[in-house]
Amino acid sequence: MSVLHKPVMLQEVLAIFQGMEIRHFFDGTLGAGGHARAILEAHPEIEKYFGCDRDEGALRIAEKELTGFKEKLRLIHGSHSEMMRWLQDAKIPCVQGVLIDAGVSSMQLDFPERGFSFQADGPLDMRMDPTAELTAFEIVNRYREADLEKILRDFGEEPRARAIARTIVAARKKGPIRTTGQLACAIRPVARGKKHLHFATLTFQALRIAVNDELNVLKRGIEQGIEALCPGGKIVIISFHRLEDRISKNCLRDEQMRPAKRRGEEAVGCLEIITKKPLEPSQEEIKSNYRCRSAKLRAAMRV
Ligand SMILES: C[S@@+](CC[C@H](N)C(=O)[O-])C[C@H]1O[C@@H](n2cnc3c(N)ncnc32)[C@H](O)[C@@H]1O
Repeated sequence: MSVLHKPVMLQEVLAIFQGMEIRHFFDGTLGAGGHARAILEAHPEIEKYFGCDRDEGALRIAEKELTGFKEKLRLIHGSHSEMMRWLQDAKIPCVQGVLIDAGVSSMQLDFPERGFSFQADGPLDMRMDPTAELTAFEIVNRYREADLEKILRDFGEEPRARAIARTIVAARKKGPIRTTGQLACAIRPVARGKKHLHFATLTFQALRIAVNDELNVLKRGIEQGIEALCPGGKIVIISFHRLEDRISKNCLRDEQMRPAKRRGEEAVGCLEIITKKPLEPSQEEIKSNYRCRSAKLRAAMRV
């Protein structure tokens, strides 16, 4: 298994799909392919495994990690928010399994040149898809103070959003803020950490979400995932912070309250939430992979 990124809550994910007969599976966040490998091994009956990622670099890594499954694997460079379109192109009307393991991978966080981390200096980038236009540099150096403040408040839930936005605008008057290290230094006098929270965490989270439009895309991805399910099919969503989990919870709840749907002539049933409360990683898993500590897993089935 890859050491580049440890798949989070793997046993819980496998348990949800256990006993199912899966022909087609859509993995919306392939990453290094850790979940993919385990699902493919547990379900030799899978005919097509769609592995989608916004990060082409991740797809190349996953391709190598999953060479043994080459015939079944269909790699997609793009966003899971376009899931139905990819499936329609492949003439697959519905799938038995969907996985969305949201957020960034360890590969993205650990390579300073991707600009996601304040732990090591790198360019202010933060794009999951390096071919996309908007970078963190653009936001930090060109956005108006009020817009910066809104991003910090809405996407970081940063209590000191106003002071941090004001400090960034003052700092950039002396010259552009080019690196993650420069940004962390600039906000240091006004940002506050907590016992287990670095002072720059919420600012970096907010910028990353804005650069990648993560919350809108996640909502759309989950809606598409639900739409893509065959009767009896299941969707699993793993989120890593409160904003993501709220979207996951609300999308599943809203869909559960909707009456049964039809896809063309066929009745596709309604959605039933399987996890009444979200599952969380075990203490044992947190000990071996501290990054998973905030994970929450929610799952639902089309009945
Ligand atoms: C937490 S990692 C997934 C790890 C993967 N499950 C594994 O076992 O290796 C998240 C991955 O999802 C990708 N990603 C995030 N949002 C995406 C989206 N909307 N569409 C496609 N990929 C996305 C990121 O680029 C990253 O590679």
